Amino acid sequence: MRKLRIAIMGCGRISASYAAAFRQLCETAELVCAVDTDLSKARAFAEPFGASYGTRFEDLEGKGIDVLHLCLPHYLHAPMAVRAMEAGMHVLTEKPVAMTLQEADRMAEAEKRTGKKLGVIFQTRYEDSVITLRRMIREGAFGRILSARSFLTWNRPYSYYEGSDWKGTWEREGGGVLIDQAIHSIDRVRHMLGSEVEWIEGSIHNHCHDRLLVEDSAEAAIRFRDGCIYSLYACNSYADDVPIYLEFFGEKGRCGLRQDVGFYELEGTVHTIPVAAQQPGGLSATPSYWGESHPKQLLDFYHSVLSDLPVAVDVTEGRRTLEIIKGIYLSSLKRERIYLPFEDVSYCGLNQIRTQEP
Ligand SMILES: NC(=O)c1ccc[n+]([C@@H]2O[C@H](COP(=O)([O-])OP(=O)(O)OC[C@H]3O[C@@H](n4cnc5c(N)ncnc54)[C@H](O)[C@@H]3O)[C@@H](O)[C@H]2O)c1
Repeated sequence: MRKLRIAIMGCGRISASYAAAFRQLCETAELVCAVDTDLSKARAFAEPFGASYGTRFEDLEGKGIDVLHLCLPHYLHAPMAVRAMEAGMHVLTEKPVAMTLQEADRMAEAEKRTGKKLGVIFQTRYEDSVITLRRMIREGAFGRILSARSFLTWNRPYSYYEGSDWKGTWEREGGGVLIDQAIHSIDRVRHMLGSEVEWIEGSIHNHCHDRLLVEDSAEAAIRFRDGCIYSLYACNSYADDVPIYLEFFGEKGRCGLRQDVGFYELEGTVHTIPVAAQQPGGLSATPSYWGESHPKQLLDFYHSVLSDLPVAVDVTEGRRTLEIIKGIYLSSLKRERIYLPFEDVSYCGLNQIRTQEP
């Protein structure tokens, strides 16, 4: 099978995970070009691969690129994905799919119109513990799942936001702890449960980041159509990045994750699902809470492109998870229960709607 010609746009923090993944997947894909508005970042990323680099989208054109990886600020996901698909590239974008549901719809429309493939990174879906527990839940090992819960208590000090022109802003990040950090927990609960949301009641707050307008904490109750009530808590003003905690409570037992280590309890006995040994040349240089699974999702996407198969984590999946986050924002704003589907809005402050596009 031929090697895919790939490129990356955005060579910031997360790009370290991609550099490691590209090295692992060099039999399947070859980096052709790296683009970042900061030329030094594009060069530093490209040079070890012998790839070209540049600062503009145009630098990608005419190079026969099959797949473009978008690792950009959130407000650029939708416009760049549409532009790349129109230029003939398949696109795998970092999470979130976009900042609004309308943007996600425009991306889906462009995917259909161009015949290109569009995927959204949710690498934690590819962890062994997630795959095993999802299968057990779906096979009914725990009976009907009555409740789920997720707790994320991480630390994002001002130093994380300083020097960034998009993090911590409604206009460019689209929110705070929910859309950036807790999105993986929310996505996993939805994915593992395999049901869709009926209604959302939640509230967002900014308790400890006075200099930011986005939320640094959130809580919600989310009811799925199968009756499961999901309780969510997230904050990024804790003193440390402690392991996230996820749990599903069923009629016959319970299961969950402490970061990426899975466990399940049946008939009073607790079992642990060990984390797979790290790949040689793995991602040890990146924060452990990003996990080790980027290469798995990238390879899955490459196979979809090479064999013309459906994309596992597609724009619809990305939109459904975004819809939960936007539903919590809307519920907080309106102080009422939000039933799906609903009309999405953009925000310009905590519980403040933006009435005009910037
Ligand atoms: N999957 C995960 O676990 C995970 C972890 C961290 C970040 N992310 C996601 O990765 C994406 C990037 O986050 P980050 O932390 O690397 O951000 P970052 O700010 O460190 O990097 C973004 C890069 O994009 C570049 N850029 C900005 N505008 C550009 C443009 N028009 N053209 C080309 N380059 C441009 C910036 O110069 C910067 O180098 C976000 O979507 C974020 O949510 C995902």
